[in-house]
Amino acid sequence: MAWCMVATWPFSLAGLEQAARQLQAGSSALEAAIAVARRVERDPEVDSVGLGGIPNLDGIVELDAAVMDGRDLSIGAVAALQNCISPVLVADRIRTSTAHQLLVGSGAEKLAAAMGLERTCLLTDKSLKTWQEQKAALAARQSIPVGHDTVGIAALDLNGDLAAVTSTSGIAMKLAGRVGDSPLAGSGFYADNDVGAAAATGLGEEIMKGCLCYEAVALMRSGLEPQTAAEQAIRQLHRRLARTRGSVGEMALVCVDRQGRIGAAANHASFQYAAAAPGQDPAVRPAPQVS
Ligand code: GLY
Repeated sequence: MAWCMVATWPFSLAGLEQAARQLQAGSSALEAAIAVARRVERDPEVDSVGLGGIPNLDGIVELDAAVMDGRDLSIGAVAALQNCISPVLVADRIRTSTAHQLLVGSGAEKLAAAMGLERTCLLTDKSLKTWQEQKAALAARQSIPVGHDTVGIAALDLNGDLAAVTSTSGIAMKLAGRVGDSPLAGSGFYADNDVGAAAATGLGEEIMKGCLCYEAVALMRSGLEPQTAAEQAIRQLHRRLARTRGSVGEMALVCVDRQGRIGAAANHASFQYAAAAPGQDPAVRPAPQVS
């Protein structure tokens, strides 16, 4: 039986190196993928996930995260969660210990407190400074960079089980309460042991329009290998949006199938991802650009 893991953006590499060793030693895909997300969530240098994530328009960091277990299609997700450094842990608790799939805002925060997770201020000096600069730029009617680099992980373990995990602070200067694709099953992530798993990064408002990750898994289900499925899912949504709206925001996805094959694609040139599999040392690779 094979194992493999693929994760969005170079900032996943350190976590993926550790997770690759865990997978090789028999850890579950879910456990290993959650460990990668947790590491990125705690890294204050990553300005689009967890601690140090860029705050919303009001200066408050609101986080989205999700976990999906390909064995039984169980899902846990949080949206607009404040003051919690490990949204992915809260998402997983929703999956395992509640009758629900998605908790938002104060409800998610209440669960985090009940789990004994410490209330943490997620603003750092750096993210506060960026927010102040972006606020000033908006007031001066200048454009700001639209950061939306989600950590998204798709993994297969030695047991043949698949998982998908996401975590993000969402787009910069979002309205309070805005929710992106990352906690929405089928849009930001999907995993089914019968087929494969996928996770997305990019502009949630675009990704949601095509249920991008469900589409990638559906294409694998129809017989496409992961690389072809990733490219086709991105290409067809990009073209559909371009046909009626002209410009299209950035979108990218990573995926794996139950045979341990990996895929990745984006509609822009800057997307890179980290991948590991037996005989392939963990490494960052550029994804093919398709549109
Ligand atoms: N893909 C992350 C977001 O749009 O919030």
